[in-house]
Amino acid sequence: MALTPGLQMLLRNLPKLTIPPLLVYVLSHFLVDLSPVETIFAYILSIPCSQLILSKWHSWALRREMTRLGAQEMPKWEGKWPGSIDLLIELYGHWMNGYPCDGIDDATDALGLTFKTKIVGFDQVWTIDPRHVKSILATDFDGYAKGERLTNAMSTVLGNGIFNTDGDIWKFHRGITRPYFHRDRISDFALFAKHGDNAISQIKARMHEGLPVDFQDVMSRFTLDTATAFLLGFCVDSLSAGLPYPTSETNGSHVRHHSDAFARAFASAQHKMSARSWTGPSWQLFEMFGDATKSDNEIVDEFIGPILKDALAKKQKNEKSNIKLNPEEDTMLNSLLSQTDDYKLLRDETVNILIAGRDTTASLLTSAIYCLSQHPEVAEKLRKEIINKVGLARSPTYEDIKDMKYTRSVLNETLRLFPPVPFNVRETTRPTTWPPNNPGEKPYYLPSNSPICYSVWLMHRNKDFWGPDALEFDPDRFIDERLHKYVVPNPFIFLPFNAGPRLCLGQQFAYNEASFMLIRLFQTFDSVSLAREAQPAWSRPPAAWKEAAHDGKRKAKEEFWPKTHLTLYAHGGLWVTMKEAGSSEA
Ligand code: HEM
Ligand SMILES: *[C@@H]1O[C@H](CO)[C@@H](O)[C@H](O)[C@H]1NC(C)=O
Ligand SMILES: *[C@@H]1O[C@H](CO)[C@@H](O)[C@H](O)[C@H]1NC(C)=O
Repeated sequence: MALTPGLQMLLRNLPKLTIPPLLVYVLSHFLVDLSPVETIFAYILSIPCSQLILSKWHSWALRREMTRLGAQEMPKWEGKWPGSIDLLIELYGHWMNGYPCDGIDDATDALGLTFKTKIVGFDQVWTIDPRHVKSILATDFDGYAKGERLTNAMSTVLGNGIFNTDGDIWKFHRGITRPYFHRDRISDFALFAKHGDNAISQIKARMHEGLPVDFQDVMSRFTLDTATAFLLGFCVDSLSAGLPYPTSETNGSHVRHHSDAFARAFASAQHKMSARSWTGPSWQLFEMFGDATKSDNEIVDEFIGPILKDALAKKQKNEKSNIKLNPEEDTMLNSLLSQTDDYKLLRDETVNILIAGRDTTASLLTSAIYCLSQHPEVAEKLRKEIINKVGLARSPTYEDIKDMKYTRSVLNETLRLFPPVPFNVRETTRPTTWPPNNPGEKPYYLPSNSPICYSVWLMHRNKDFWGPDALEFDPDRFIDERLHKYVVPNPFIFLPFNAGPRLCLGQQFAYNEASFMLIRLFQTFDSVSLAREAQPAWSRPPAAWKEAAHDGKRKAKEEFWPKTHLTLYAHGGLWVTMKEAGSSEA
């Protein structure tokens, strides 16, 4: 039986909890005479005292190392209460009720691109400096890892998949996964057509009823269906459940559909993993008696398990009769099967790639439609390119998309302002130093195992990197002179897909899928607007955001509520109305 996360933590900490009282026992029996009261006190105080001594010794050793490296401490973002507990409360409040990076943006303005927090004794480095992010992801790749803190919090769902491992195990996973993405298959548009056209005809039908749709919901179904078909060759078919109606999350046919339980379990597992990584190692305390993701995992495995077992059985049968699978033509699963028979490995890898590929692409498409609803002039220009290149009826091909520069810039500009993965984390694997915020100062010291959080959300919106109009949605910045002024000389300011050896494997797949959907949408419809009345009241941007107008913050004019768990999403969905092309002339 697997131990609960809480018990595992207890086991890991057993020496810390048992050695000090044991010492007291030995001392009081053989060396010193203590009264019974003194003995009890000695037992009680032994654990905190030994912790205090160890931590003093540890920080003394770190200071020595810092001096040896000729480095200094980085600026500190501190709260007013002991242990900066007020900061923790503030950050948690922002995470629940704020705009992404609220609080962190002010700290960056005040302290510089890199700083740290120490909350209840836990150090955390924050950076949006492209120089450091470049070291982390590329030039000093081995000096950093996702680290045990993170992989531990994710392991009950992600296991040992590509997303959740470091070092040689990660290399092995990357090695068996990558070949699949090299193939022409990522430009096999039949898959997009099958599910994309289904999604669009359902949107169209709903518009004919005179009702809005939750665009995020449709895109999540579309990307779930394509991802399961692409990965497993077995589509979960969530689009066939039909689309939900406004204000009726529980009365539609979709809630009784088998795919809904799967999608919900999937979302819930991600939410829990993200909450764990926010509460630091203490999440394990709350899971002393059970793994919070267990029931979600069971639902996910109920769907994936039989498919994997079937495929394994088929493979074994084929091997007996000497028929070789043809991985060139097959699904991701078959590509993996040609390299392994290990059920757990197949399971972890498929779940990882499903998580990596599905919500991210749905997020991109949802944010793109939001931006287009706010910028009809961009929608019009996009539509012109689509009609020029593909016309009004034909399904686009990979060759079409390659040449559609404006479509790609619309996607890039959406990825810039609304990166589907707004934060990422790493830890140092050895002591290191970083160039400081201000030239001429001593470098900053990072001990081994320092947790680092970097935010591409803030990097993508920084006016020093992108120019004075950094907060505006303007796809032309990826085409006109601004491209050569900002991104080309400094590519590490734009990292929606990460960079270096862990660059997203699905980047091309995602551009293809998203382009396909945008093209089909704007062949069918000629404009999109937000259906504000359908947006549930609790999910509308808080009125207080408007007050940020005088700080020049973008949240002052945001008309939807972007939130993050592992990925970015629209809180409460994104309810929109789309106007069918040509309907105004009719
Ligand atoms: C707009 C869509 C997407 C975005 C913004 C995106 C972004 C990212 C980012 C930021 C990472 C790095 C994660 C990290 O280092 O912690 C990543 C990794 C990854 N992505 Fe994507 N992704 C997208 C779509 C996809 C799709 C469609 C697939 C597969 C079908 C995919 C497969 C992967 C895989 C396998 C990795 C892990 C790579 C590794 O760790 O070696 N992604 N993606
Ligand atoms: C669900 O609720 C919506 C709005 O209240 C209503 O229009 C629709 O008919 C309901 N659907 C079912 C299946 O009851
Ligand atoms: C979009 O961004 C990618 C980098 O992720 C870049 O390679 C590509 O050239 C950009 N395309 C356009 C049209 O902006």
